[in-house]
Amino acid sequence: MSVWVTGDTHGMYDNLIERISENNVKENDSIIVTGDFGFVSDRPERREAFLSLMRENYRFWFIDGNAEEYPFLETFRIELWSSGNARIITPNIVHLMRGEVYEIECGGRRKTIFCMGGAYSVDRQYRCESVDWFPQELPSLEAYVRADRALEGCQYKVDHIITHTAPPSVAEVLGFSIAEEEYVLSSYLEELRRRVVFDQWFFGHFHTDKRLPSGFTAVHDKMIRML
Ligand SMILES: [Fe+2]
Repeated sequence: MSVWVTGDTHGMYDNLIERISENNVKENDSIIVTGDFGFVSDRPERREAFLSLMRENYRFWFIDGNAEEYPFLETFRIELWSSGNARIITPNIVHLMRGEVYEIECGGRRKTIFCMGGAYSVDRQYRCESVDWFPQELPSLEAYVRADRALEGCQYKVDHIITHTAPPSVAEVLGFSIAEEEYVLSSYLEELRRRVVFDQWFFGHFHTDKRLPSGFTAVHDKMIRML
């Protein structure tokens, strides 16, 4: 079994399956989506994509982005999963929550993964609150407290970090600036960059594929084998 990382999927089933087949992902492999998963929805027009994903022989583990349907996502029960709290949506679809560290076993190897979803929607003025954007898109104070506790528990050392957005200093290298409204989250990610020892940090928000020096990788359509 391998673990892969890919970027935002926005509920696009055909596009995700195309990525999977292009990369020769095997049955029972796990795929981590770096936010804006978009499949967990109670909208009738999205139901077919969700049911199709549920029937696939792959495991989908996603962090949340700024484009999730939070009220529906929050109806799923939180359970202990791989040493952290997660929402088990279906047996093969799992929501990796903000501020959690998971221990993943793969081929006899154990890796720790820290997750911190969320981001600010820069196109918020074109969306409608509680319809297609939700205030929960940005982490609550509770998520930061949980993150600190989880990172303290592993002495601020993990194998991988998965976030939706990136520290501003990393976004800048890609030619992006961070919205002022995202200040709390971006300052926190910048602090993590300084404090946490990690091998690789993946993020998806910018819809681009680029491996940067110092362990950061922006992912979009590509699938990267992580484990
Ligand atoms: Fe996105």
